[in-house]
Amino acid sequence: MSLLKEELERNLNKPEVDKASLRKVAWVRKDLLGLQELSREELELILSTAESFKEVISREIKKVPTLRGKTVVNLFYEPSTRTRTSFEVAAKRLSADVINISTDSSSVRKGETLIDTGKNIEALKVDIIVVRHNYSGAAAMLARNVHASVINAGDGWHEHPTQALLDIFTLKEKLGRIEGLNVSIVGDIAHSRVARSNIWGLTKLGAHVTVCAPPLLIPVSIEEMGVKVTSDVEAALKEADAVNVLRMQFERDTENAFPRQLEYFKNFGITVDRLKHAKKNILVMHPGPINRGIEISSEVADGPNSVILEQVTNGIAVRMAVLFLVAQAHDQLRSKARTRGAKKI
Ligand code: CP
Repeated sequence: MSLLKEELERNLNKPEVDKASLRKVAWVRKDLLGLQELSREELELILSTAESFKEVISREIKKVPTLRGKTVVNLFYEPSTRTRTSFEVAAKRLSADVINISTDSSSVRKGETLIDTGKNIEALKVDIIVVRHNYSGAAAMLARNVHASVINAGDGWHEHPTQALLDIFTLKEKLGRIEGLNVSIVGDIAHSRVARSNIWGLTKLGAHVTVCAPPLLIPVSIEEMGVKVTSDVEAALKEADAVNVLRMQFERDTENAFPRQLEYFKNFGITVDRLKHAKKNILVMHPGPINRGIEISSEVADGPNSVILEQVTNGIAVRMAVLFLVAQAHDQLRSKARTRGAKKI
């Protein structure tokens, strides 16, 4: 029996683990930095592990002792409601201790670098650092410089792996599969780490992805990621099993590439009228925060096709899975290093 399966079975009373996927692959990464570097088997392992944790958070007592004695720090250099809270809830459901650092009230304001901050957090014997940063590559840089596990909670325009994982988890839960699904991502693709992580994850799992945005908000050569590209929102909706609607990231519009808000809503907003061009049961997703009346109407956001709040709930299970997997890999790496006589890891 693999260590992973043993651990799951020890900690979960009813482990609904996808045994086939556990046999295929073991998680060996200390960090989760993005979906680009993950194999299909690793993605499936996270999703099947999250299924077990979804069962845990549906129980009356929603807590397991899996990460008892571990400490998780949320280090956020950008605002967040969902991701930071979801990581905190996930860590607490796993019985870890959690510390939240807001850079507004930390020594980052006095000029401390990310690496120095990370090394000081690690000196406090922290096991996992969840980091959100406005620079692409920041999470990877931190991971190279600390022994603690690092989980990327969004780095610049680059990746937001746990958001994409919870989006994919929700799709699979609702539609029963990912292979062969048509998923359209509509909105500010150019500045979106959520779009990039979704594209990596969905295409590896066999979905057909279409991205749709005004031409200035479509990155050059995005077709090379294996997606179709259109600026015709009705065409993007026509065959889609799901549409993932993205926020216009006005705070990142340094090149004045954005259409005005009303103009965007008129041409690209997801409305009840536009959904008449889609399949009746199309799933409407959004990573949040929603800008009602800009990229999506209230009728659609709150309507029968919307799974937006279910995505938020699923984020807890997915983040429990990621915390569990990186913690376990970290323990194994540390124990191997001890066996080899290394000073520490
Ligand atoms: N989806 C998402 O990342 O939301 P927050 O910015 O609130 O974390």
